[in-house]
Amino acid sequence: MPTILGIESTCDETAASVVVDGCDVRSNVVASQVALHAKYRGVVPEIASRAHIENILPVIREAEQIAECGVRSADSQKPARSPANPQSEIRNPKSEIDAIAVAHRPGLIGSLLIGVTAAKTLAWALGKPLIGVDHVHAHLYSVVLDRNEQPPMPAVGLVCSGGHTALYRVNAWLDVTLIGSTIDDAVGEAYDKVAAILGLGYPGGPHIDKLAAQGDPRAVRFPRTLLRKESLDFSFSGLKTAVLYHVRGVPTKHGPDIRTATAPPPTGQALADLCASFQAACIDVIDKKLKRAIKQIGANSVILGGGVSANRGLRAALAHFPIPVFFPQMEYCTDNAAMSAGLATVYFNEGRFSDLGLDAVTYSQFAETRAAR
Ligand code: KG4
Ligand code: ZN
Repeated sequence: MPTILGIESTCDETAASVVVDGCDVRSNVVASQVALHAKYRGVVPEIASRAHIENILPVIREAEQIAECGVRSADSQKPARSPANPQSEIRNPKSEIDAIAVAHRPGLIGSLLIGVTAAKTLAWALGKPLIGVDHVHAHLYSVVLDRNEQPPMPAVGLVCSGGHTALYRVNAWLDVTLIGSTIDDAVGEAYDKVAAILGLGYPGGPHIDKLAAQGDPRAVRFPRTLLRKESLDFSFSGLKTAVLYHVRGVPTKHGPDIRTATAPPPTGQALADLCASFQAACIDVIDKKLKRAIKQIGANSVILGGGVSANRGLRAALAHFPIPVFFPQMEYCTDNAAMSAGLATVYFNEGRFSDLGLDAVTYSQFAETRAAR
């Protein structure tokens, strides 16, 4: 029953978690930077790395403290998530940790380096094994956290977040092959940009999801981009532009003379209808791509992960799929370290460890490696 400390700092969340035996989450601490980036409506890399530096040690300490308080009988309550009681008696929790896991790819370089350096330092200082995991694969693994039910394989895996829309064939947790991805915007990115067009807050997904529940999904027929007949790739930039033109009008001129309507974004029922119609287009595309993938690989289940997998409309739409669909618990949809610690357990059990030369791999290096394959 390995106990693994996971560390996450790939983008704009600083997170640490202690997971026992791959699915029992003893602590899950996430320091969100949403408030810092909200006014820019997106992640500012320099701000993100500075915030990681400030947050990383307190977050790791809190994760260890909560897990220590959480060493308990199986039927007792989980301890509160935060903040840890500084008065509580801390034995030496580090001595119970079997390995240090870190998401080392893909991400923003300044952000990644903080988590990777912290993980290497702890591993070296404590004499514990280091395990580097792929952040996107870890999003898939998040479906087993706090659940201990394994999806039947092979599975179709879809990670849909602010940075990724990636479709996988999952034969086993360490046998994951990319079979499709977005050729432009990620679906979460489309949510965030459409929310900006509509004057809603950042990140946009939860706002649109909430309003969509009160709207008519047939009010506006937005395009569903499916690409070639058998294609498993995605494209969301046309949908985003369709919403823009619907709200502001189609530009009448080009270049510096570009003109669009300056009418304020819709409000009330019209806004809810627009959100519902946009969301219906996203869900339709995801539904069709998943069905294509299931057919092509003969999948026995579907695994969803990433921030957009928290979407209530998507969850409802996939509830009646022909094969079982696995969603993460809500708290493990967005970025967290429990998913990395969980996936690292599979590596641990197979004796597959990283050395202290473990690299931080950025989004662009990652894309180049994929293209070369
Ligand atoms: O996985 P995540 O925390 O970070 C990335 O790796 O990108 O995902 C964040 C994304 C944002 O784009 C956010 O708008 C979206 O997930 N999101 C949602 C919902 N909650 C978060 N999108 C649709 N519906 C939601 N309920
Ligand atoms: Zn993520």
